[in-house]
Amino acid sequence: MNYNKKTVKDVDVKGKKVLLRCDFNVPMAKDGSGVITDDKRIRAALPTIQYLLDQGAAVIACSHMGKPVATFDSYKKKQLEKGKDEASITEEKWKKSLAELRMEPVAKRLGELLGKDVILADDVVGPDAQAKAAALKPGEIMLLQNTRFEKGETKNDPALAKAMADLAGADGVYVSDAFGAVHRAHASTAGVSAYLPAVSGFLIQKELEFIGGALANPRRPLVAILGGAKVSSKIGVINNLLEVADTIIIGGGMSYTFAKAQGGTVGDSLLESDWLDYCNEMIAKAKEKNVKLLLPVDTVIADKFAPDANSQVVSNGEIPDGWQGLDIGPETVKLYCDAVKDAGTVIWNGPMGVFEFEKFAVGTKAVAEALSKTSAITIIGGGDSAAAVQQLGYADKMTHISTGGGASLEFMEGKELPGVACLLDK
Ligand code: 3PG
Repeated sequence: MNYNKKTVKDVDVKGKKVLLRCDFNVPMAKDGSGVITDDKRIRAALPTIQYLLDQGAAVIACSHMGKPVATFDSYKKKQLEKGKDEASITEEKWKKSLAELRMEPVAKRLGELLGKDVILADDVVGPDAQAKAAALKPGEIMLLQNTRFEKGETKNDPALAKAMADLAGADGVYVSDAFGAVHRAHASTAGVSAYLPAVSGFLIQKELEFIGGALANPRRPLVAILGGAKVSSKIGVINNLLEVADTIIIGGGMSYTFAKAQGGTVGDSLLESDWLDYCNEMIAKAKEKNVKLLLPVDTVIADKFAPDANSQVVSNGEIPDGWQGLDIGPETVKLYCDAVKDAGTVIWNGPMGVFEFEKFAVGTKAVAEALSKTSAITIIGGGDSAAAVQQLGYADKMTHISTGGGASLEFMEGKELPGVACLLDK
């Protein structure tokens, strides 16, 4: 796939309306108060927004938020599938679930960060959005309602894509800066490019440069650290990275499936029995490709999945019944930290243990610290690894922290990203 895409700098936006797709899918407080708990994704979009406004464009920003269910019937179906009692499923609850995914908090925060008013539309392509877009002046910004309030969004409905494009008018431009959503072929992330000249913003450009650069032309040695709970969610990544990395380090919950595949005992640890053969295949592939595949040599085990569990260190693959592995052990920490010391590039995706529990955050913390001290280019995949680095206080020591969870994973898998593929080539 060609990642050399036109950017906002390659088009003239002066006096034009720009439909700007951002990923403002930010975490919100669980109490329904509308408080944004991490505004990183809004901040990440500011350079492109500010540039467009400074160039004299009128910016029509849009984003999805969460996974709203567009009709009551589908809401009811989903709740029933979740095992909810039919009598407890009401229209009021469905409406409340939609209200919690409205864009008001994002418009407010964006306005604060930009230091100017953000006009908020009450719909996506309806009369309010149309009227506000038509009246929008150069240097002004508006935000559409949650794009997923339209059921055509996730279906990549051409009629919806056209209606969105029409908001920007005949000489409009489409700019995508929604890196976190480029793995989705939706109306606002891909479909709309059929109706407007489509270019990337600075965030997508940066993500492509760092992640794409690390995969295509890395400063070597390239070390990939892969953790997280499930092997099944990292299959494509391990497979693809075995083609390009010099060393692959495995940690986190998925290492127990590797341990079991090699004949070890894993007690009550996370285990995906269907993936045992796959683990052995990957070990064989690493040998064949001459890639160093590092697996834990010891592990911290716990007598329950809780922050205050009793713990001890055992050799990898020697976990007794009634115990479960929750972190890499001290010998493994040494091994892994040594492996990143002289790296040219490190890509990290997935924590080494249950870092949410202080007692089992040691491995993840040690790896983050080792990364903060190397002179390597350090790239952190989004989602859990980004959260870990942030929570542990190492965020500003990394070269690049991706704003994409699923998107950065699919990028590392070597998959085509529809939201990038649809942009104009340079
Ligand atoms: C994310 O949070 O990873 C992106 O915003 C994409 O969200 P989605 O998984 O709901 O498409």
